[in-house]
Amino acid sequence: MPVNAENNQKNEKKRVLLTGCSSGFGKLTAVLASRQGFDVIATMRNTDKREPLERALSLANTSARIEQLDVLDPQSIERIAELAGLVDILVNNAGILITGSFLDQTDAEMHRIFDTNYFGIVSLTRLIAPGMIQRRSGRIINIASLAGLVGHPFNAAYAASKHALIGFTKSIRLELKPFGIDVVSIEPGYHKTEIIGANANQSENFYNRQSPMFTWNRGFLRTMFEEILPRAGRPEAVAELLLKVMIADRPRPHYIIGKDAKFATTLQWLGLGPWLERKVYRKIKRNTRLENQREEEKKSRRKEKRQDSPK
Ligand SMILES: NC(=O)c1ccc[n+]([C@@H]2O[C@H](COP(=O)([O-])OP(=O)(O)OC[C@H]3O[C@@H](n4cnc5c(N)ncnc54)[C@H](OP(=O)(O)O)[C@@H]3O)[C@@H](O)[C@H]2O)c1
Repeated sequence: MPVNAENNQKNEKKRVLLTGCSSGFGKLTAVLASRQGFDVIATMRNTDKREPLERALSLANTSARIEQLDVLDPQSIERIAELAGLVDILVNNAGILITGSFLDQTDAEMHRIFDTNYFGIVSLTRLIAPGMIQRRSGRIINIASLAGLVGHPFNAAYAASKHALIGFTKSIRLELKPFGIDVVSIEPGYHKTEIIGANANQSENFYNRQSPMFTWNRGFLRTMFEEILPRAGRPEAVAELLLKVMIADRPRPHYIIGKDAKFATTLQWLGLGPWLERKVYRKIKRNTRLENQREEEKKSRRKEKRQDSPK
């Protein structure tokens, strides 16, 4: 989106607080918003990771305040709320994904997903919203997911946390309406960011051979690598949409972005959700069979090697 002098003036004094700006949507949005003239506070849990954002800001010939915020740490949340003061736009973007069947995921992993993707957002929002109420204006933008609208096998806790976030967003939208505060959720499908790159995590029991999900976990992963990730969208498109939502006079309650997200939600709307489920199931089943074959081949190669080696 081009930098627009009129918008620059209009947004000059508007303060935007963004979470999770070390990479992905957060980093890209911090740059676009600051170029657009917003007063940006870009936060990240580990400020040692600030260099990519600093470089992107400098390349775009703009600047932003970079501050530490770990949404899992109540003290860090309180500190940022105090330091940020009156915030016009809060973008709750930080999030994590830990892949693996719900049978294999540990309680600690499920809690970490919920604490980051849901409770962290609730805590920060509860500290920022009162300032918006005082001024009778504000905007809260929550980055949910397609996984908050449909099921996501082998990512059940993630999907549940994003469903919770959408439920929270829809509910507080009405609570905050009398105070002139818009609450919006963004529901992206898969996009090429670090959540499916360097930050991609598998549960610690993902490769547990005793689990009935051992080959299914790997079948899902193969489906991700071969069928989902190559089709993932450009993260810049999500950042551009976020900027549009920040600027809009009257934002919509929610925005779905990405071909996969639009496809899945349209099918659901047409009553074709079960058809899509069958299609996804067949893909995972096929990839699980291929993973099983690969495992068997590996086993027989190992056996042959043992037989060939001198006694
Ligand atoms: N990319 C997709 O396909 C996709 C699709 C739907 C929804 N989303 C959502 O989009 C949001 C942004 O993710 P992304 O795709 O841009 O992935 P990303 O590049 O991995 O960015 C995630 C950001 O969240 C931060 N974060 C994680 N735990 C945190 C914590 N406890 N406190 C503060 N920050 C924390 C990460 O910081 P570190 O660098 O320190 O880990 C990183 O800056 C997430 O909520 C994600 O669920 C992404």
